[in-house]
Amino acid sequence: MKALFILFSILFVQFTAKSQTWSGEVAQLFYDKCSKCHHPGGLAPVSLMTYDEVSPMSTIISQYITNDEMPPWPPDNSYQEYLHTRSLSTTEKTTVINWLNNGLPQGNSAAIPPPPVYTNNTILGNGDLTVQIPTYMSKATANDDYVCFSVPTYLTQNRIIKAVEVVPGNREIVHHALIFIDPSGIESTDTLDGLCASPSNASTKLVIGYTPGASPMILPSVIPLALGMDIGPGSNIYFAMHYPVGSYGEFDSTKVILHFYPPGTTNIRQISAGPLISNNNFTLPANQVTNLTAQYPANGGVPTNFSVLSVFPHMHLLGENIKAYAYKANQDTIKFVNIPHWDFHWQDFYFFRNLQKVATGYRIKGEAKYDNTVNNPHNPNSPPLNVSSGFNTTDEMFLVYFHFMPYMNGDENYDLEELMSASLAEYLPEDPNGIMTFPNPFRESVQIEFKEPLESGDLLSIYSSAGDFICKLNPLIGTKELTWDGKNSNRENISSGVYYLSARIKGKVYSKKLLKFD
Ligand code: HEC
Repeated sequence: MKALFILFSILFVQFTAKSQTWSGEVAQLFYDKCSKCHHPGGLAPVSLMTYDEVSPMSTIISQYITNDEMPPWPPDNSYQEYLHTRSLSTTEKTTVINWLNNGLPQGNSAAIPPPPVYTNNTILGNGDLTVQIPTYMSKATANDDYVCFSVPTYLTQNRIIKAVEVVPGNREIVHHALIFIDPSGIESTDTLDGLCASPSNASTKLVIGYTPGASPMILPSVIPLALGMDIGPGSNIYFAMHYPVGSYGEFDSTKVILHFYPPGTTNIRQISAGPLISNNNFTLPANQVTNLTAQYPANGGVPTNFSVLSVFPHMHLLGENIKAYAYKANQDTIKFVNIPHWDFHWQDFYFFRNLQKVATGYRIKGEAKYDNTVNNPHNPNSPPLNVSSGFNTTDEMFLVYFHFMPYMNGDENYDLEELMSASLAEYLPEDPNGIMTFPNPFRESVQIEFKEPLESGDLLSIYSSAGDFICKLNPLIGTKELTWDGKNSNRENISSGVYYLSARIKGKVYSKKLLKFD
């Protein structure tokens, strides 16, 4: 019986392993989970969008995936659920590993799904204000280059931000960017020693981070939930930039595009971004592992209910792990983030799938562990030295930022994924390619018309602007027209936002931008 079971298991494994092909499911998985960084002109060192690009890398891909090193995604998804997660599910991991172990079968090359569309342009368009750093040449030779720029906005009145897009000047070298608002313009540019990791004043507020493949921050801006962030007259935008080893001599001029509500718009709920958890006064002794905690408020609990949208933990090179949550005696713990292996190179705001309500009396707590021994491969000092809190990358930090706002009834029921991509309808230029769309922007469905009748073998896919697969379209062979009903492959309505049609027609790939609004 046991032998039969084993035989059956082997047959089953072989059967499932055999069914994986590049054209069947693996190409789509690489598009979804790898290509945001691994595309021509992207940040990662190699493109992984075609069979010919992936197959020579099979050994190292297998290693990276098995060890969870790729895709980079530090937070523990079993602790809390986030938007835009990058990690592979267990099934996806098994699919790739089985495919690799099984000799990378290619499948039917005519059935390879069309790839996502990557553009160096903006996703959201011109916006109301663009703030750009001067052209900068990376100095990253043996060490990464961390530099900061403070750039005036020249705003003369208060404006309310509803969306922010970070557009790297050079996608091949911008590893991450942290974008802050400096309300009084007191920060200064620091490009001297390549060690600038953060602004020097507590009044300078973090707004958003950029890592490759990041989506613009689009705040819900229509009823029932209109959110905004103030930016006052005389503010500067402060950029903390990271250029990795190997980028020496390359140029970048990253910009931030801000979209505002029209002046005078009322009834917008202000969100704040701030390091509710912080400890600015500590020393980590050399050759020791140190645990630190910090909490908010220092005594008692929070005085009113509030809603939390996102979390951003921040440490430097000695960080080992970090956790943040809210708790109250005899109540459920509210979990924000758990990063079991801190990686200074991959830090981000993690937006929750649902708003997290923190009720009166709860206390927010952060726990962080630092490894200032020779066992930490990122330790900047050899031999280790005492390291204190400070702003340089070689100093340390313990901060957890949040986007938050006063609580209102029903906040915890909003689906942020749906609402975040809502409501920016002004843009949609360019790209004839002979593909016509009507109406575009669209509300219910969009009609797509091609120059020539479609033939069997032509393939059409829809992707989100972040490169996520939405659905395939199945045209009637011999016709020039078809309709997309704005649904994904699970037949669910998609949220508002920018999408791309990607089409492989007679072997050539075309794309077209589509805008869905409510
Ligand atoms: C968010 C960006 C990002 C995503 C998504 C991503 N990678 Fe990477 N990958 C990188 C970067 C950057 C490097 C360069 C080394 C580093 O910084 O760790 C890299 C390096 C690699 C390397 C080593 C390449 C070499 O020449 O040494 C492999 C292999 C790899 N990635 C595979 C994958 C696979 C497979 C996926 C998807 C399952 C993936 N990556 C998803 C950013 C990414």
